[in-house]
Amino acid sequence: MAIRTIIKSGDEVLKRVCRTQLTFDERLASLLDDMADTMYAADGCGLAASQVGILRRICVVDVGDGLIELVNPVIIEKKGVQEEQEGCLSFPGEYGTTVRPMKVKVRAQDRNGNTFTVEGEGLKARAFCHEIDHLDGIVFKDRLK
Ligand code: NI
Repeated sequence: MAIRTIIKSGDEVLKRVCRTQLTFDERLASLLDDMADTMYAADGCGLAASQVGILRRICVVDVGDGLIELVNPVIIEKKGVQEEQEGCLSFPGEYGTTVRPMKVKVRAQDRNGNTFTVEGEGLKARAFCHEIDHLDGIVFKDRLK
């Protein structure tokens, strides 16, 4: 387990589209461990692999009720609307209002390749949307109201 360097705004890596993760091995497990360590050390509630320079469709989220590891996540349902302030570990000190769904359902794989679905409402829905956006090279500043 190790804390990785978070890539900051201005780096083109944040605009790249990430590739599907096809292997579920020790390397993926240690990347997920490092991503969680890095997110917690930075006091964030989500982190995408591209933010540590790995262009794979992988992210971690913890809004205070436990760590969720998402490999190849896809939003399969959206409900409602919320408008809230959002920030990003790659844009320290910058915040802005975005419009996001109030509730989302996400389908993803776990670190062993098993498919699962997870639902989020409020902050958790926003975190899922924000992190999955990163995997498509989209940052919150592209979504400002
Ligand atoms: Ni972010």
